[in-house]
Amino acid sequence: MAQAKPKFYLTTPIYYTNGLPHIGHTYTTVVADTVRRYKRMQGYEVVMTTGTDEHGVNVERAAQKAGVPESEFVAQMAEAWRALWEELGVPADEFIRTTEVRHARTVQWLFKLFRENGFVYPGHYTGQYCIYDNAYVDVKPGENCPDCGRPTETVTEENYFFKLSAFEKPLLDLYKKNPTFIQPETRRNEILSFVEGGLRDLSITRTSIRWGIPVPGEEPHVFYVWFDALTAYLSAVGGPEYERRGFWPADLHLVGKDIIRFHTVYWPAFLMAAGLPLPKQVWAHGWFLIDAGKMSKSKGNVVLPRPIAQVLGMDALRYYMLRETVFGQDGNFSFDALVTRYNADLANGIGNLSNRTLTMIQQYCGGRIPQPTPGHTESSANTLRTMFRPTIWMVVGNAESGDKGHYNTLQFSSALQDIARLVSHVDAYLVQEKPWVLAKDEAQKQRLADVLYDSAEALRIITVLAHPVLPEATKEIWKQLGQPGTLEEQRIDQLDWGQLKSGTRIGTIQAVFPRMDHQEAIGRMEAMESETQKPVAAPAASDGTVASPSGAAAQTAPEKIAIEDFAKVEMRVGQIKTAERIVGADKLLKLTVDVGSEVRQICAGIAQFYEPESLVGRKVVVVVNLAPRKLRGVESNGMIVAASVGPEGRPVLAAFTEDVEVGARLK
Ligand code: MSP
Repeated sequence: MAQAKPKFYLTTPIYYTNGLPHIGHTYTTVVADTVRRYKRMQGYEVVMTTGTDEHGVNVERAAQKAGVPESEFVAQMAEAWRALWEELGVPADEFIRTTEVRHARTVQWLFKLFRENGFVYPGHYTGQYCIYDNAYVDVKPGENCPDCGRPTETVTEENYFFKLSAFEKPLLDLYKKNPTFIQPETRRNEILSFVEGGLRDLSITRTSIRWGIPVPGEEPHVFYVWFDALTAYLSAVGGPEYERRGFWPADLHLVGKDIIRFHTVYWPAFLMAAGLPLPKQVWAHGWFLIDAGKMSKSKGNVVLPRPIAQVLGMDALRYYMLRETVFGQDGNFSFDALVTRYNADLANGIGNLSNRTLTMIQQYCGGRIPQPTPGHTESSANTLRTMFRPTIWMVVGNAESGDKGHYNTLQFSSALQDIARLVSHVDAYLVQEKPWVLAKDEAQKQRLADVLYDSAEALRIITVLAHPVLPEATKEIWKQLGQPGTLEEQRIDQLDWGQLKSGTRIGTIQAVFPRMDHQEAIGRMEAMESETQKPVAAPAASDGTVASPSGAAAQTAPEKIAIEDFAKVEMRVGQIKTAERIVGADKLLKLTVDVGSEVRQICAGIAQFYEPESLVGRKVVVVVNLAPRKLRGVESNGMIVAASVGPEGRPVLAAFTEDVEVGARLK
C-alpha cells in the first residue's frame, strides 16, 4: 500500500469584500501558491486556504452604498475574488467565506468552548473604533486611527469580553519555546514587546452592528469581526471535526505586516482558551508600495493584477514580486522595473536558454536528447555538474551540506538569484564550447553530444527549480524537453545532476518569454489599468472605497441627498492655462487651471479624446474642494467635470454657452 503523504496546511488572510484584489493582495496569494507548489514537489499533500472576510460595519456600509442587501453584495464580491484567483492561476484548495454555515458553526463552537473554560464575561465598553480596520484604537474622541489615519467613531456597547490578559504568560512561553513561531525576526521582537507591555481583555461581541454571526441565545450580539475572521482558518478544514481531515494545526499562516498582531496574539490566545492545537508559524511579509506610499483607492494609485497578467503573463508578475523584494520587507512597485526584469531575466535569461538549447538539439541531434559519453555525467571534471550541485542544495536544502534551502526559509529572492546565476553559467558554457562550431566537425560528434546533453540537463534542473515561481512557462519548457511524467510530480528534494533521459524526442519549440518592447508594454498595461479604474471621468466617486463587482454598481438604488449634501461640493468655473500629455499614462492630461483664487494643477482622464492644444483657454467646471491625490505619480488638485457618454464612457467636458467669469461658483 502506498504510504500516506505528510500533510501541509497553509493560508492567506481572508480578504475584505469591500474591494477587489490589487497587486498587494495578489502578492500574498502568489507567495502562498508558490509555497504550495514547492511543498507538493517535496511530496506533501497540501491544502491552501484563501477566502473572503464578509462581515463587519465596513461591508455593511459598502452594501448600503451599492444599494443591495448585504448577502447579495458579499456573494457577488466573493465570486469576483474567487474567479480572479482562478483566472490568475492561484485558486484556493479551500475557499472559505465567512457567511457560510460551516464557518458560523465553528465560530459558535469556539465561543462555547471559551465559555465552558471560563474565558468570557459580560461587560460594557466605550471606545474609539476604526471601522476601516475593524478594531478599537487607543485614541481620544475626534482623533484619527493611529494605524490607517482615518476618522474613528465613539462606540459604547454591551458586550462579552475575552480574557486576553490571562494569556500574557502562555503567549510569552509560546514565543520562547517556538522561536520561529513569528517570522521575520523584527516582527517577533515587535510582538514580544507588545505582549510584555501587558494585555487588556478584548471585547469579542458587538451590539452596535447587525451584519455578523449571531451569538446563540444572546441576540442582538454578533461576534467581533476579527474573532469571526481568524476562525475561518479552522472552519476551512473541518471546524469542530478538524481531526477527521487531519490538516489542523496550520503549518503556515501568511499575512501582511499590518495584521501580525491579530495572528500572533489574539489567534493563539483564542486557540489556547479553546484547548486546540496552535499553528506552527506566522510569516509577515512587507507591503508593495507605490511612490513609497501604501496603495489605496482613495489615493488613486492602486495597481490591478489583470492588465499585467494579460500583457506580460502571470509568471512575469510572480517573478517580479518574488525576485524584486526580500521576503518580509517592503518593496516598491514600478512598471518600468517590471518590464526590465521581464526582458533581462525571463526573455533574455531562461527563455533564451531554453530556445537556443532546444534549437541546437533539433538541428544537430535530430531532435533527440543526445547520449553522453559513459562516465561523463558523473565525472567531477564536468564543469556544469560541479557548478549545479551546490546551487541545487542552496535552493532546496541539503542535510549533508547543511544548507537549509532558500525555498524552505521563504527566501524567494535568493532562490531566484541563484537560478538566474545558473542560467548565466550555461550561457557562458555554450559560448565557451561553441556547439555550432563542433557541429561542423565530424570528429567532434561525441563532444557535441556531451555539451548538448549537459545544456539540456542544466535546462531541466533550472526548469524544476523555477517551477514553484514560474508554473506556466516551466510546464511549457518541460513539454518541449520531451521528458516523461509531469513537472508537478518531480521531487524537487531529490533533484540531482544526471537524471535527464537520453534518446527522448523533444517537442515543438516555442518561445516561452518573447521579448517585449519596453515602452509599448508599459503603455499597454497603464492604458488597461486606467481603463479599469477610470481615474477621472464624469463626477465618479472620488473616495472609491467600494469597487463594485460587475452589476453591483448598476443596481445602485437612486438615493436622494439633502441640499446641504450638495452644498458640500464646491464647483467653480475654471479656465485651462496649459495642457500636456503625461509620459507613460496615455489616458491622462496634466492641466493647469485658473479657478479664480489660484491656478491649480489637475489631471484629467481625457487624453484620448481631447488634443492638449485645443483645451488651452477653454472654460470648464472644476470641483475645487476635492482632496488632492496622485494619478500615475502626478499630483492632481481638483477634478474637471465631464459627462460620461456611450458604453466606452467617452468624456465630454461640461461647458457654458454664455460667457462666465472665472471663479464663479456653480450652485
Ligand atoms: N480581512 C482581513 C484579514 C483577516 S485574516 C483572518 C484583512 N483583509 S485585507 O483585504 O485588508 O488584507 C489582506 C492582506 O492583504 C493583508 O495581509 C494585507 O497586508 C495585504 N495587503 C493589502 N495591501 C497590501 C500591499 N499594498 N502590499 C502587500 N500586501 C498588502 O486585513
